[in-house]
Amino acid sequence: MSGASSRISGFYRLSVAERLSLVGAAFGLTEAQLESLRTPGGLSLERAQHMVENCIGTFAVPLGVATNFIINGRELVVPMAIEEPSVIAAASAAALAARSTGGFTTESTERRMIGQIQVLGCADFDASRRALEAAKEEIRVASDALQPRMVERGGGTREVQIRDLGSDGGPHGRMLVVQLVIDTADAMGANLINTVCEALAPLVERISGGRVRLRILSNYVDQCLSRARVRIAPSALSADPRQAAAIIDGIVEAQDFAALDPYRAVTHNKGVMNGIDAVVIATGNDWRAIEAAAHAYAARSGRYGPMTDWRRNADGTLAGSIELPMPVGVVGGQIKIHPLTELARALLGVDSARALGEIIVAVGLAQNFSALRALATDGIQKGHMGLHARTLAAAAGARGADVDRIAEELVRLGDIKLERAIALMAGEPVP
Ligand code: MEV
Repeated sequence: MSGASSRISGFYRLSVAERLSLVGAAFGLTEAQLESLRTPGGLSLERAQHMVENCIGTFAVPLGVATNFIINGRELVVPMAIEEPSVIAAASAAALAARSTGGFTTESTERRMIGQIQVLGCADFDASRRALEAAKEEIRVASDALQPRMVERGGGTREVQIRDLGSDGGPHGRMLVVQLVIDTADAMGANLINTVCEALAPLVERISGGRVRLRILSNYVDQCLSRARVRIAPSALSADPRQAAAIIDGIVEAQDFAALDPYRAVTHNKGVMNGIDAVVIATGNDWRAIEAAAHAYAARSGRYGPMTDWRRNADGTLAGSIELPMPVGVVGGQIKIHPLTELARALLGVDSARALGEIIVAVGLAQNFSALRALATDGIQKGHMGLHARTLAAAAGARGADVDRIAEELVRLGDIKLERAIALMAGEPVP
């Protein structure tokens, strides 16, 4: 990526072709990358039918870019694949509000993923457990021998844990789990971990004298965390200091609500995931895995809570932070199979999974900020309805200038419904 600014004012007013050539030129996309966008959905049927079984077509969602982002001092536009209106605009607005204070700063832990091997039916449970404990190093070496290329890339087995699940000795007897903690470097690593778990089963059976059943990765990747922080100046919220302080109060009150009430926390987090999923999808990652891990992590205290934290600093600025598991990858067959994912990574200028994970949580934090700001002030519907009206106009068959005309009419009538859009398109008189 070039040193171009991500602050592109009036971007939304340009045509799709103009946006593409502007972003392409500013962020150094190749002609091949631009061309990949010209295939509907970016994915040919030929390729799609090798991705899933019983394929009958492709299913496209809009791909947009959120502008204005500065992350760790770097300007970037963020590709987001999402069907919901307002999400990309909201991320861009939050990134704009964060610019005067330097944008987002991020960091991550090591990328330690987990594989589980379930052991049952140990005749002498304590002896089996002791034998596995004593063989941890042997299992670690065997695990690494199964993934030489990952070890070469700096990844590999970091730890072998033996966990007694303390079951009640029912029909299966007490249950043990051999847990492999594997650094998957820049890959998501799901296939690798599953392969290693399956291949190690005979060794684990031999050592434990038990019977192995499940051999599968865990999606609860609580040792692969990405973090982002941001500070928002009151002046970025309103020119009127009292109004700005009231907005900050509102956001902190919204935070308290989510911290106190799981019913609110789930919705708060849904807003976070609006941003996260959109980038995860655009970069070809497994959004179900990210969703599963993120929500489980939000409940790690035993009570489901908000994924973000917002508080007022002593200097009057608003401080936001987020920490989530982020088992994404930038290499591997799965990632590369969709042609647009390469374009997404090129736009972001990332070549490491850590950097990608950090950008993704920063976008989640941005998304949450905009949602809370709207909720704490005008409410969410004001912004939503205009965009929703445009979606309905398009769904009713409007094209070009008709989209705006029908949408404005829907808003003016206060009747933002598909039937009304269809009636307007058909030129039916307004009652
Ligand atoms: C809508 O997709 C997401 C929000 O409901 C999130 C929130 O309530 O914080 C606006």
